[in-house]
Amino acid sequence: MEHTLTTLPASRRPGCPFDPPKELIQAREHGPISRYTFPDGHEGWLVTGYDLARSVLADSRFSSRKELMRHHPLIDYGDIEVPPAPPGEFLLMDDPRHSRYRKPLVGKFTVRRMRLLTERVEQVTAEHLDAMEAAGPSADLVTAFARPIPSVIICELLGVPYEDRGFFQENIDKFLGGEVGDEELFAAYTATQRYLAELVAAKRANPTDDVLSDLTDTDLTDEELRGVALILLAAGFDTTANMLALGTFALLRNPEQLAALRADPGLTDGAVEELLRYLSVAKQFQRVALEDVELGGRTVKAGATVILSYNTANRDPERFADPHALDLRRQDGGHLAFGHGIHQCLGQQLARVEMRVAFPALFDRFPTLRLAVPAEEVPLRPEIADIYGVKSLPVTWDV
Ligand code: HEM
Repeated sequence: MEHTLTTLPASRRPGCPFDPPKELIQAREHGPISRYTFPDGHEGWLVTGYDLARSVLADSRFSSRKELMRHHPLIDYGDIEVPPAPPGEFLLMDDPRHSRYRKPLVGKFTVRRMRLLTERVEQVTAEHLDAMEAAGPSADLVTAFARPIPSVIICELLGVPYEDRGFFQENIDKFLGGEVGDEELFAAYTATQRYLAELVAAKRANPTDDVLSDLTDTDLTDEELRGVALILLAAGFDTTANMLALGTFALLRNPEQLAALRADPGLTDGAVEELLRYLSVAKQFQRVALEDVELGGRTVKAGATVILSYNTANRDPERFADPHALDLRRQDGGHLAFGHGIHQCLGQQLARVEMRVAFPALFDRFPTLRLAVPAEEVPLRPEIADIYGVKSLPVTWDV
């Protein structure tokens, strides 16, 4: 019988902060694709199998266009019109519109370019560890470490002048962190947009050594550059911040894995990939079928919305042995945590550099780092948040 899910859960199971909700795991047990009835009544699909998710992501018959994304997986917005993505915000566009923006950016985010940033990431990490140590012996790891590090790095990449950092970081923290009310969120979003417009104008007048200045040398308009800057911020800050905080939480809850990582620095790269797979903080994205498509033996009709559950696909037992175990020595790589296909994460090499530097530096600096509250009391983000993670992570250490 066909498996149908009528609601997605709003939160995870108590005591299992790292596992996808059990309804999604059960859906995968029934098969790689299930029917999903959206809250507004739309009859769509949910893909939880690894191979099937990859095939959708590589298939141009499935669209990422914002104006087609009319159905929210958890909220009934009724029959709304959604406008196309504004110029520059290419995550929610298809080719060729998408590649107009992605192409000039690709060369700025290569493995080589990002490796050159390693030293700077080390400095920024050390500065934050110094401040944390000086204020200790306890801290909220989210505000002291996980959020500021990617925030400083993205500011530098975009070329935000040092004197504007405080204001800028405060606003992006509010509008991307999802921890403030609607009014404050809107004010922070507007302030960020206004600031980015000024920044683009300043870079055009006086180019400096950063990604945004480089882009002023292309045929992108100011409005497009502002959109690109916004998407880089939105995609690159909250994701990495949540990986750092949730990753630390997961390692503290798996002491034998953490001990292996401490004992063998050669394990770091593999550990980062395994944490990406195991946690999959960018937990799901959607696509819309542009025509009827056969998928896993079902016909997905033109116009149907397909939810791709990256976190469940990354726990697919047909792809990963013992998928629910965090195993830093795992050899079966190739996770979907950065997506796949034309929208595959542009900033993945940067995110890797940040995590490969930050995790070992944190555990080196604080050999006795531990949770300062019982694990069940660590506040988790609800499933409605686009990016999964912890709201705060109280930690302490011996001095
Ligand atoms: C661990 C951290 C990160 C994770 C887990 C992550 C995850 C993802 C995923 C899953 C996608 C694909 C979305 C889709 O399928 O529609 C994506 C796209 C993207 N990411 Fe990341 N990301 C991370 C860090 C970053 C960073 C540091 C940057 C840049 C500074 C960045 C920039 C982007 C951009 C620009 C896209 C859109 C690409 C396109 O549409 O062509 N990401 N990311």
